[in-house]
Amino acid sequence: MTADQVTVARVGAEAAESVLEVVREAFGARPVLDPPADASAETVESVRVRLAHHGGLLASLDGRPVGALVLDPVGDTVFLRRFGVVPGAQGRGVARDLVTTALRSARQQGAADVAVVAREELPETVRFWEAQGFEVVANHSPYVELRRSLAVGDVGQDVPDAEAMRALGAEVARRLRAGDLVLLVGDLGAGKTTFTQGLGEGLGVRGPVTSPTFVIARVHPSEVGGVPLVHVDAYRLGGLEELDDLDLDASLDEAVTVVEWGEGIAEGLAESRLEVRIGRGDAADDESRTVSVTSVGPRWDADPW
Ligand SMILES: Nc1ncnc2c1ncn2[C@@H]1O[C@H](COP(=O)(O)OP(=O)(O)OP(=O)(O)O)[C@@H](O)[C@H]1O
Ligand SMILES: [Mg+2]
Repeated sequence: MTADQVTVARVGAEAAESVLEVVREAFGARPVLDPPADASAETVESVRVRLAHHGGLLASLDGRPVGALVLDPVGDTVFLRRFGVVPGAQGRGVARDLVTTALRSARQQGAADVAVVAREELPETVRFWEAQGFEVVANHSPYVELRRSLAVGDVGQDVPDAEAMRALGAEVARRLRAGDLVLLVGDLGAGKTTFTQGLGEGLGVRGPVTSPTFVIARVHPSEVGGVPLVHVDAYRLGGLEELDDLDLDASLDEAVTVVEWGEGIAEGLAESRLEVRIGRGDAADDESRTVSVTSVGPRWDADPW
């Protein structure tokens, strides 16, 4: 299976025509609203003015523009405006890639949170944003405002179920590259392996990613010409030397390495690391987890988590 090649680029005023085309096609396919969506009044000139301020994102599928949004910072909040994906390109992760890239650029700009305004007549749109970790913060009928905090490392993110944990892993994977180390911290059954499954999906490696209980480490080669995933269970590992002794079929410099139970052992593997802490509530029937991601070391200096 060849994956569709979705690319998301940061664009300025020069992309006004492409952005408008996408916005028109995307909004044209939606139900007619009363009052009409503000986007329907956009012209090349008005889009150019918006993009000239703080830019936007243009998603392409095999080179064709299929998704767009405009970034609009207001104080500490970056509003995502004119978000749309053309009908023919839906269901291929374009919307999610746009959101992930928008979150990252807002984070880089030092924003505290990201917001969108959706129409209450379009509950599926509201649900889409909720699935992306946004929460409804205001309802000025017919407009619903949703926000997502960028302070993941500080407050922890609520992860309601295993599927959401895999989605979070996939999101984290997008920011990883060869040589990166991810340390997973959490009690028995916290969801470390589940998170790693998402990481593997996001990286496009061969699965299945399972608990490496009977092997200390497993190498998952990429299926998309990317980096392999090295999945280590340090639970029964005495120390780093043992990991070296494993003679893995991949160099850690050329792989993403994720270590369960690695706290106190795996830090020495690389100067920089991402620490993913997974906590759970006391109630036995409570499936939700709290996850915080913290970056440590120079690798993340320019792009902290
Ligand atoms: N919100 C959630 N996040 C992650 N897993 C969840 C969640 N809710 C339920 N689960 C379930 O909890 C279990 C977590 O198991 P998993 O093997 O991922 O944990 P682990 O931290 O790797 O455990 P171990 O310490 O044994 O390696 C899975 O069966 C998963 O489906
Ligand atoms: Mg595990």
